[in-house]
Amino acid sequence: MTEPKKLYIKTYGCQMNVYDSERMAEAMGGAGYVETGSPDDADMILLNTCHIREKAAEKVYSELGRFREFKEAKPDLKIGVAGCVAQAEGQEIMRRQPLVDLVVGPQSYHRLPQMEQQVREGKKALDTDFPLDDKFDTLRTRAKAKRGPTAFLTVQEGCDKFCAFCVVPYTRGAEVSRPATRILEEARELVDRGVREITLLGQNVNAYHGAGPEGDMTLAQLIWELDKIDGLSRIRFTTSHPNDMADDLIEAHGTCAKLMPYLHLPVQSGSDRILKRMNRSHTAESYLRLIERIRAVRPDIVMSGDFIVGFPEETEADFQATMDLIEEVKYGYAYSFKYSTRPGTPAAERPQVDEDAKSDRLQRLQALITRQQREVQDAMVGRKVSVLFEKPGRLDGQMVGKSEYLHAVHVVDSSLKAGDLVAVEVVESASNSLAGRILPD
Ligand code: SAH
Ligand code: SF4
Ligand code: F3S
Repeated sequence: MTEPKKLYIKTYGCQMNVYDSERMAEAMGGAGYVETGSPDDADMILLNTCHIREKAAEKVYSELGRFREFKEAKPDLKIGVAGCVAQAEGQEIMRRQPLVDLVVGPQSYHRLPQMEQQVREGKKALDTDFPLDDKFDTLRTRAKAKRGPTAFLTVQEGCDKFCAFCVVPYTRGAEVSRPATRILEEARELVDRGVREITLLGQNVNAYHGAGPEGDMTLAQLIWELDKIDGLSRIRFTTSHPNDMADDLIEAHGTCAKLMPYLHLPVQSGSDRILKRMNRSHTAESYLRLIERIRAVRPDIVMSGDFIVGFPEETEADFQATMDLIEEVKYGYAYSFKYSTRPGTPAAERPQVDEDAKSDRLQRLQALITRQQREVQDAMVGRKVSVLFEKPGRLDGQMVGKSEYLHAVHVVDSSLKAGDLVAVEVVESASNSLAGRILPD
């Protein structure tokens, strides 16, 4: 038997890239590769990249430079670039960095095994098509190995919304939903391998409209189908767009026990003037009313958001409107970014905010968010939460997991193991996690 070849994948960007990396590793498993945790002994290095901000994209080139010495030490080492930078920059990557052998976009990675053959023959391989053959048809079943208690599952990909700042519609293509039967099949496979919590992924996951047995299904309908799977205890979904929060999905937050009380609902800005320029097609007010409706059915839901500061033409007053919106929502989590000019997007052409103003606004916004996050987390002390334990902690006999609200919770109890779902009383709130104790049955 020949030694398996080793594949090292480094993943950047969003959760969908994490999912894609798993699928790429599985596809390469069929071509005789096993995954390795370090580039040192790899026969192939694959960077699964993100193009969302300039920094993310630039990181790829500096990382590639670092691999030069690996290639010098091992001339048959193959280097590949996958993901959104691959899609956006294609051939340009090979021009800028000749040591790259292979470039594959997010919709063509099922073709990796053939591309690997090609590079083994000493050729370069590039595939950034949006092919008609569906990658998920080729990669039908998941790997058989037992796995950890949580998993991602892509149900929808791409975006038709074209926010003025965003590259995703260009790198991931048009919005496409996978058929419900395939998703349910994959979910059952995951549960059979030990998964108890599934996070449904999509760039606009709540725009899901995949084919079901009786016509297209909504995300809520899909969630109710997943709810029937024995052994699956928790369902989450991300990322949602405010305009696609349908009534049945809001309602599911009040009635579906497996659907966790956490919602990531990016708003980007609290200023209607800026939202309009961003092409977001919602207002600050409509977003706030939406959250009111969600909280009416699920009062304890923890809200999460994304914010961009320093979008072209954003004034101090616009920024203040964002701060006011944050004050009103009270977020449990939030991700905030300085606007980054992305070539080819409409906002790139508009009058830019200067870098110092962006940094100053980001700092103020993050201070507010940090305070809110801490308040939401501190309010958990004394409450009973359920924790799905995932891995050992730093202390002896300590296990760490996530509450239904997505807070990290650690408990010292040597009887606990990964995959246990247990009622816990929160006893303390530290900077990034909660401490708890197991409640007697
Ligand atoms: N599909 C999701 C998330 C897309 S990307 C949504 O619609 O919300 C994740 C986040 O990156 C965005 O929510 C936005 O806050 C941020 N982002 C996207 N493009 C950006 C840019 N050009 N500069 C700064 N942040 C950006
Ligand atoms: Fe980007 Fe907007 Fe689409 Fe989200 S909805 S992926 S921010 S274009
Ligand atoms: Fe980045 Fe592509 Fe995800 S640009 S955020 S990896 S969809």
